Amino acid sequence: MDEELKSIFSHESKIANLDLSRKAEADLADSERHFLGRVFNGSRSLLDVGCGNAFICDLANVANPELRYTGLDLDPHCISAGRQRFPSAHFIEGVFPESIGNESYDCVLSFRTFYEQVDYRSFLRTLIKASEKYVLFDLRVKFDGPTIVDPELSYFYYHKTGKRVPHIVQNLFELLNFLCIEEFSLKKISIYGYHPPFSSGFVPMKKNEMMVAACLLEKYPIGETRMVTGATDAQWSRDWCQVDINLPGYEKDWF
Ligand SMILES: C[S@@+](CC[C@H](N)C(=O)[O-])C[C@H]1O[C@@H](n2cnc3c(N)ncnc32)[C@H](O)[C@@H]1O
Repeated sequence: MDEELKSIFSHESKIANLDLSRKAEADLADSERHFLGRVFNGSRSLLDVGCGNAFICDLANVANPELRYTGLDLDPHCISAGRQRFPSAHFIEGVFPESIGNESYDCVLSFRTFYEQVDYRSFLRTLIKASEKYVLFDLRVKFDGPTIVDPELSYFYYHKTGKRVPHIVQNLFELLNFLCIEEFSLKKISIYGYHPPFSSGFVPMKKNEMMVAACLLEKYPIGETRMVTGATDAQWSRDWCQVDINLPGYEKDWF
């Protein structure tokens, strides 16, 4: 991540907002809430990438008291606030993916962070690598035109910095094709989303073209990976990975 972007993300104008920002389940978007119970209940450990004020730790503790929570953020203010609020949780201060070690987690979650990552593929690749079962992240998505990764075309202003951070809008089919790469060993990709009832950043398209969504990736259990090599029928139909898309206007045979 370039230094300019890093300094925006750790700008002190965020501190005033840490307490005011999301606190309870009611503060989640429907898309974020959609798969959350499943990953909380099916996991013993969870890494929260871009944890902010770490409110996910509160929700996780209620849903599954056995779940070991780790929060990671590049912003030292977030990390010290998280350590104070949740002394028994674990926190890592650092830039993802550069700062991540070899540790793996049942679930790797990242809310409101993925769509700010200029190098979104290596971000996603590392989210998947660090997970043993589930990856859950939210995104902005559209059906037509290429993925937009240009902070002069699609952006939002970050807290009181007066500066822009990228607001990436993924082309659904680019994303699906990338996720279906065999090395990721994904058994199922589920996406749930809708047209946002609120405006989300500045986007260069008609409002009804962009959707907010959450994506749940489920991996093959270790040892059960189904590798398909060579130009077999199975490879053409990508039948090692199920896809379940629930977006307005999406038709079943589109992918
Ligand atoms: C919009 S906040 C979201 C906070 C929280 N996840 C939520 O859903 O409310 C994004 C957080 O991700 C952090 N962040 C952005 N890119 C990051 C990266 N590459 N590595 C680590 N933290 C990052 C920022 O510092 C910020 O605290």
